[in-house]
Amino acid sequence: MEATEQGPIDVEAVRADFPILEREVAGGEDLVYLDNAATSHTPEPVVDAIADYYRRYNSNVHRGLHELSQEASVAYEDAHDKLAAFVGGEDREEMVFTKNTTEAENLVAFAWGLNELGPGDEVVLTQMEHHASLVTWQQVADETGAEVKYIPITDDGYLDMDAAADMITDDTALVNAVHISNTLGTVNPVGELADIAHDHGAYIFVDGAQAAPTRAVDVQEIDADFYAFSGHKMLGPTGIGCLYGKRHLLAEMEPFLYGGDMIERVSYEDATWNDPPWKFEAGTPVIAQGIALAEAVDYLQDIGMDAIRAHEEALTEYAYDQLTMTDDVDVYGPPGDDRGAVVSFNVDGIHAHDLSSILNDYGVAIRAGDHCTQPLHDTLGVPASARASFYLYNTRDEVDALVAAVDEARQIFAP
Ligand code: ALA
Repeated sequence: MEATEQGPIDVEAVRADFPILEREVAGGEDLVYLDNAATSHTPEPVVDAIADYYRRYNSNVHRGLHELSQEASVAYEDAHDKLAAFVGGEDREEMVFTKNTTEAENLVAFAWGLNELGPGDEVVLTQMEHHASLVTWQQVADETGAEVKYIPITDDGYLDMDAAADMITDDTALVNAVHISNTLGTVNPVGELADIAHDHGAYIFVDGAQAAPTRAVDVQEIDADFYAFSGHKMLGPTGIGCLYGKRHLLAEMEPFLYGGDMIERVSYEDATWNDPPWKFEAGTPVIAQGIALAEAVDYLQDIGMDAIRAHEEALTEYAYDQLTMTDDVDVYGPPGDDRGAVVSFNVDGIHAHDLSSILNDYGVAIRAGDHCTQPLHDTLGVPASARASFYLYNTRDEVDALVAAVDEARQIFAP
């Protein structure tokens, strides 16, 4: 896809692939969709891939010698290779399909953590982790006697790397860090964290839910032991997440769920396990979703991950600058020119839920609440925030619509 003078992406051509963006909402307002960190929309080629699967070769995988099953199996297996390569992995043996990023967290926490952790072990998280990481490791720590610790953030929303260097020790078994914070937009130095973890014999799990859709990721460069992300945030369908794991770790780990397809041989007494990734995909897996997600990868790579990142960075900086033109707005996290494509903020005197509701009246869809980061909001000292988040199909005009709608809300709440 060729870029235009307006920027690295031909946004109008991209938007034509997303009919939902033509929708009107709130009784006749043009939809301005700025809730991409929660979920992205689905382009026509991905919708077509799902329909094509159901229309032409819907069948279970690894269970039939008939032609439809073989076609579905090949497409599903190839999808694993494609998703592994998308984040710099080698092949399907390093790529497990799950339900979402949360399930990928649970898989590692329960299949690895429950077996490997014990009293005296520490799991080091950051203060900006999503509930998917926080709650999961808390539960596994409770069961194993391990301790969970949190690397603090600085006043400007970065990870305190001096504290990280002190907190990650020989007692650390695993570091769990979000690559891009879904609330602050902070881009964490996950490669540096990986180096510190590895120096102490610990592993690192990277939550890439906000990063993998928006920039080129290379798990080998990061030296991530595990890297997880979700299909629905990167133009794919809901119901599929991806867990990259180093080959030897996935080979050594116990299964997470038990049932059909994850076994090699079963007797009435016991069973042996299939090879990764199938060892971790019990039962009928996410066939249509996996095939469609591979199509989403093609779509993203046709445009180019670097172009997508450049487009989003420009929009994010513009939104940050526009929103902070007035001094009644607090934006959380690093400066506008050094963050992922999310801008969480509060306007003085307007609760985030009220703001979101008024914005909806103008067709502007944002998220309001704690964004599954309640402890981080406690640290920020606010109960909730409004969050705008951008993707490849958003425009500067849409940022202007956001800022204009915020101004309308300001008028409504003016004393
Ligand atoms: N974790 C997703 C978000 O941040 C749902 O909105």
